[in-house]
Amino acid sequence: MKSEINSLEEYKREYEKSITAPEEFWAEKANNFVWRKKFGKVLEWNFDEPLNRWFIGGKLNITENCLDRHLEKKGDKTAFIWEPNNPTEKTINISYNELHKRVCRFANVLLNNGVKKGDRVCMYLPMIPELPVAMLACARIGAIHSVVYAGFSSGSLSTRILDTKAEIVITSDGAYRGSKTIPMKAIADEALLSCPNVKKVIVVKRTAENIKLNAGKDVWWHEEENKVNDTCQAAEMDAENILFVLYTSGSTGKPKGIAHSCASYMVYADYTFRNVFHCSQNDVYWCTADIGWITGHSYLVYGPLLSGITSVMFEGIPTFPDAGRWWEIVDKNKVNIFYTSPTAIRTLEALGSDPIKKYSLSSLKLLGTVGEPINSSAWEWYHKNIGKEKCFIVDTWWQTETGGIVISPLLNVSEQKPGYAMLPLPGIQLVIANAKGEEQKGNDVEGILCIKFPWPGMLRTVYGDHERCKKTYFSDFKGLYFSGDGCKRDKDGDYRITGRVDDVIKVSGHLLGTAEIENAINQHLAVVESAVVGYPHEIKGSAIGAFVATFKVPENSEKLKQEIIEQVGKAVGPIAKPEKLFFVHELPKTRSGKIVRRILKKILEGETENFGDISTLIDPFVIKELVKVVSSEKKFAKIGL
Ligand code: WTA
Repeated sequence: MKSEINSLEEYKREYEKSITAPEEFWAEKANNFVWRKKFGKVLEWNFDEPLNRWFIGGKLNITENCLDRHLEKKGDKTAFIWEPNNPTEKTINISYNELHKRVCRFANVLLNNGVKKGDRVCMYLPMIPELPVAMLACARIGAIHSVVYAGFSSGSLSTRILDTKAEIVITSDGAYRGSKTIPMKAIADEALLSCPNVKKVIVVKRTAENIKLNAGKDVWWHEEENKVNDTCQAAEMDAENILFVLYTSGSTGKPKGIAHSCASYMVYADYTFRNVFHCSQNDVYWCTADIGWITGHSYLVYGPLLSGITSVMFEGIPTFPDAGRWWEIVDKNKVNIFYTSPTAIRTLEALGSDPIKKYSLSSLKLLGTVGEPINSSAWEWYHKNIGKEKCFIVDTWWQTETGGIVISPLLNVSEQKPGYAMLPLPGIQLVIANAKGEEQKGNDVEGILCIKFPWPGMLRTVYGDHERCKKTYFSDFKGLYFSGDGCKRDKDGDYRITGRVDDVIKVSGHLLGTAEIENAINQHLAVVESAVVGYPHEIKGSAIGAFVATFKVPENSEKLKQEIIEQVGKAVGPIAKPEKLFFVHELPKTRSGKIVRRILKKILEGETENFGDISTLIDPFVIKELVKVVSSEKKFAKIGL
């Protein structure tokens, strides 16, 4: 289906209707899908509970909408062009027919291994075709998929497996990442030591390295596939059944399993994909995000497949074998629409424009970014060097919790303002709230970004902890969904996201909770306590700074620093390793014992004097020590990742 929004008038018409008659508006969109049984009431909602339900009574299977319904007319069309990490290895094209068969076959493997409707299946896989196949196979039989990013450590993996109570895990022997090989199975084995509930591990052969298969528990993907055929009737799912759980970091140590449901997530992923990216049927689309993040779920797997589009899926990294790799893939596959992150853009910008010169990039029509605020210089670089000043750029703001894009510039509708996410999509009723939760009306206002009416992509719950869902998103301000992001609406009514207002940090586009990292640091026997804050970083957007109080002055501070950093890498993952780490005697605390991160952040940003109101601190002199430690940083070797 084509996009509904191709001009300002159309945007205004869609937006108006989505506000005045939301149920009718979304029912119309939902009617374009294949339903086993039509829904009755479109929406029931209550932000206090929260209890939000869409397309009530409807029955369907999302894979029939992603795959089966395309087969008659475009069965031979390529669904995925898979580009391997190493350019000397063969590219694989997977048609809709083949993808359908592979999904059905693997769905039978899952059934054969005892997976039932509603069971949770955890995937810890690199960017290989088996990952979307496994996700869709779960959806086919009504199991809930929970993908864990392959860059996470064994500790993060086991926390997530335990939280969903998954009994089955899918992983690979190894993963290729640039010039490195990652021992996926060994990491998974370590995680599984603390997950006695896992009964089966299905292993994809990717790197063919020597691995240990645990008898009775571990099976090879390819051997299991030989035991089954490739027809599998899709399970009939209720609109509100959970489709997947995906973890995101929060301000407490434990990550939150964001749960999305089958029908309305589908409707929203589809609507936003079509209207933001404007793919026509012959276009080639490429989203570089890892499927371990929500962007990969909504705009690499579900969105493009629902539209029957051809997408590129890339296993590797942008700088291997050299910094021209992405552009080689763009030219080779004549990619028309390209969606990536500001961190990747800044990394490539730092490497200069030489690696791009060999490539024409003339196929590109539209570019996108997601995941963090994009600074104007990166935006300009992207516009000039990649888009050759002729591609519209969509700076899309959204979250794991929103399921799909919520604010974005729209082609032929909005102008381009670098760093601006611009306009709410139809169905999105934004509020900029002040610290008391009062709506800031009119233009030229700033505050916290909230949403006051349900939209189909919204989360349903935090898996296994509905109270946490309520507390995190629906309790700060009554009647509002609280995003945790600061936002400005300028004099023209356009939106600009200013960054997080809570204790989570976006590092290279990955959301990390300060508490999660602090917990990892505090596990070290030498450590009393620690405080972690984000500070601006040229490439990563934000980097992590850690202030660590130790029991005694470290004898070998460099060694201890390395040990602590390694510990964080092990407990959370390499992306969470602090870039800077300082040993201190004490942390700045209020009388009630709360660490004042605001002050630590300012110190890391170079502030030495103006810390605002410090009267609530137990010991204001602590600040002096901290300033001294940070400003004499030269003595503290900077530790890279
Ligand atoms: C940030 C990613 C500025 C924001 C889809 C949000 C952005 C968090 C943008 C969600 C953007 C995402 N401009 N900031 N265009 N897009 N963010 O759950 O802080 O991994 O709350 O979802 O990323 O991160 P998540």
